[in-house]
Amino acid sequence: MKKDPKEIKGKIVDHRRVTPEYYVLKIQAPEIALSARPGQFIMVRLDDLHDPLLRRPFSFSRILPSKKKPGGGLAEGGFEVCYQVVGRGTARMTRLRKGERVDILGPLGRGFWREEGVERQLLIGGGIGIAPLLPWAEELAGKKGSAKGGAKEIRVEILLGGKNSDRVLGVREIKKLGLEPQIATEDGSLGLPGMVTDLLERELLSKSHKSTAIYACGPMPMLARVAQVAEQFDVPCQVLLESRMACGVGACLGCAVKIRAEGKDQMEPTSAPQGGLCGSEEEPEKSLREEMAVRISGAPFFRYGRVCKEGPVFRAQEILWE
Ligand SMILES: Cc1cc2nc3c(=O)[nH]c(=O)nc-3n(C[C@H](O)[C@H](O)[C@H](O)COP(=O)(O)OP(=O)(O)OC[C@H]3O[C@@H](n4cnc5c(N)ncnc54)[C@H](O)[C@@H]3O)c2cc1C
Ligand code: FES
Repeated sequence: MKKDPKEIKGKIVDHRRVTPEYYVLKIQAPEIALSARPGQFIMVRLDDLHDPLLRRPFSFSRILPSKKKPGGGLAEGGFEVCYQVVGRGTARMTRLRKGERVDILGPLGRGFWREEGVERQLLIGGGIGIAPLLPWAEELAGKKGSAKGGAKEIRVEILLGGKNSDRVLGVREIKKLGLEPQIATEDGSLGLPGMVTDLLERELLSKSHKSTAIYACGPMPMLARVAQVAEQFDVPCQVLLESRMACGVGACLGCAVKIRAEGKDQMEPTSAPQGGLCGSEEEPEKSLREEMAVRISGAPFFRYGRVCKEGPVFRAQEILWE
């Protein structure tokens, strides 16, 4: 059953800089941790930041499960987010102190789901996009050898990339899971010199790519390339998209991306959303999709999909990559 997101004041229990580029914020929030899934996200509001008043979205980089107390209520539980400073909101976040409380809404969106019947789960992350893959790697690695419907051995492999060694995170955490990450950096300061997508191609070419599923997160050009490679090798692929967000709950269309609208060959073009309030959370998903199917001269039919509601994890072939 789908659980509603909670709005809470989470207590900061740890906040540290993990590389010159990245920070990790650990928040105690048992109500959110109880139903959080890898690939889902939270929206953080920084009370004194009025410009703009919007919350900022961050993925779970670690989920610390909540435990039910014998007498009722929840003990412990929380999560970590790993973030990179890119603007006002994230710069303000660096000043948050242990013991402070932050306004959080979550868990939100659709996280990763397990592709069944595959023997190799291949995770590929670029830069800060590695963060949401960490709890997913933990979950998949924990299920090694216990595939539903049989005792099939499941291999979890992880490919990490970044501009340089400071932009590659999670190596220690991944090793703790008993996994050996393959790494590529653009400047060659860690792992092989090159792009992480080169590693992906090499992996798929060198081993049998049958019975493989890909899960990816990173910058858009990287994801577009991963989607291309997955299609070329006919491998199922899930991608976590990071678009700019306003409401985070499906109401404003601020996060819309173009999604292929299969079977819409006969539809008349309609106008694209302008980013205003054109839907509400209660609006049936289907009618919104139908209403928004669009075609621009000869290009594939598409509709606008809300990253915060229908994603942020999508099947790669659903996305209209441009
Ligand atoms: C579902 C989801 C999960 C995310 N998870 C993480 C995470 O785990 N760690 C993390 O560091 N970041 C994550 N992001 C991105 C993060 O939300 C933005 O970096 C943050 O909102 C920027 O806020 P700001 O006020 O510092 O920057 P702003 O001042 O708002 O913008 C500064 C610059 O960053 C760019 N920018 C802002 N938001 C985004 C975005 N979503 N994607 C690409 N560029 C953007 C702007 O175009 C601008 O150039 C996630 C985004 C989404 C949608
Ligand atoms: S951010 Fe408002 S609909 Fe997604």
